[in-house]
Amino acid sequence: MARYAHVTGWGMAVPELVLTNADLALMVDTTDEWIVDRTGIRERRLADKHDTTASLALQAAQRALERSEVRPRDVDLIIVATSTPEHLFPATACLVQDRLGARTAGAFDLSAACSGFIYAVNMAAQAIRSGSIDNALVIGAETLSRIVNWDDRSTCILFGDGAGAFLLQAGEKPGGVLSCVMRSDGSGGDLLSVPAGGSRIPTSLETVRRKLHGIQMNGREVFRFATRVMASATQEAVQAAGLKLDDIELVVPHQANLRIIEAAARGLRLPLNRFVINIERYGNTSTASIPIAVTEAAEAGRVHPGDHLVLVGFGAGLTWGAMVLQWVTPERPVPARRRRLSALWSTVARLRSGLRRLARWLEGLLWGAASAGKEPDESRPSPKTEDRR
Ligand code: UT7
Repeated sequence: MARYAHVTGWGMAVPELVLTNADLALMVDTTDEWIVDRTGIRERRLADKHDTTASLALQAAQRALERSEVRPRDVDLIIVATSTPEHLFPATACLVQDRLGARTAGAFDLSAACSGFIYAVNMAAQAIRSGSIDNALVIGAETLSRIVNWDDRSTCILFGDGAGAFLLQAGEKPGGVLSCVMRSDGSGGDLLSVPAGGSRIPTSLETVRRKLHGIQMNGREVFRFATRVMASATQEAVQAAGLKLDDIELVVPHQANLRIIEAAARGLRLPLNRFVINIERYGNTSTASIPIAVTEAAEAGRVHPGDHLVLVGFGAGLTWGAMVLQWVTPERPVPARRRRLSALWSTVARLRSGLRRLARWLEGLLWGAASAGKEPDESRPSPKTEDRR
């Protein structure tokens, strides 16, 4: 029997702190008029000292689970698409897995910059359709404010923090993820990057002094690339789904610049009212921008069962991609009981995590005591023996 991967849960989380264009004009040489005119952005959200990529991802994931009927223990896979992971490792997805109490889930991060959410949904949908898993949480989460160069007016005005999540579930009803195109062109890698902190340019006093840990971008080139690929990727994905552009009720584009979205609409000859646009309130939240926009559209009653949606994005790499989704899940309020259960699961997950840490510590003590009593194993060469060979 054919299996389909349906979006049955969606959720978002943004920090409370709002940074307006007027606030930015106090920090760098810019104006509200310039930012609105060139980008469409009016304000963005900024993580405070308590918010991290994992904490925002967790909140979005919990809301997506509340909306579906899946419990954390039934989640098989967690993918966090992010360019601002909590650490280089462990994966942010593992932190979410622990705090969620998704005890039988595999978890990994996916790095494809702003196209990451589309890539991740496609990976999860393929795993579901192959029959290897039933339920997957896919999260796009960012704290870009932590890697923005706040002295660079051409980039610091663009980015914001936030997270969005989908719960994907196996189902027999046709629909869900119908097609996806994923593309890349590494020859444009230098157009948008964070140069230092990886293996090529490890962190040093010098890299910090030269602000090489902040976002660097050739805005004009990225703009040209984006206007080229948004329309073509949409067309490819629609064709791959066996549909026509007229069959698409809603396009959810990556929210990077209103002018890029308008150019895509012109290229596709679609009216702008068929696009979900919320860039004025959040700026560019990278991997989070598409799931946040879908969540807002669904909550505003703009998405109906049977509707065909295109998700389309582009980003550093260069990467780009588009996906066609057929929505099946009816919009209905989340019962208060499910919210209470979610709070209970999260308390249980915290307790469980604490107990596991305690058990690991005790195990370490016992193991240490046991190995202290043992004679050294003469059959194994010591580093010194190795040196002498
Ligand atoms: O997720 C993907 C991430 N990135 C993107 O999607 C970015 C794509 N690119 C863009 O959105 C646009 O290129 C920007 C919004 C970044 C810049 O807009 P633009 O219309 O391409 O401006 P520009 O870079 O061509 O700069 C025009 C002028 C320059 O001054 P001069 O050299 O003409 O005197 C800039 O120095 O605007 C100046 N400028 C600013 N002025 C006031 C650049 N940033 C600012 C600013 N306020 N914040």
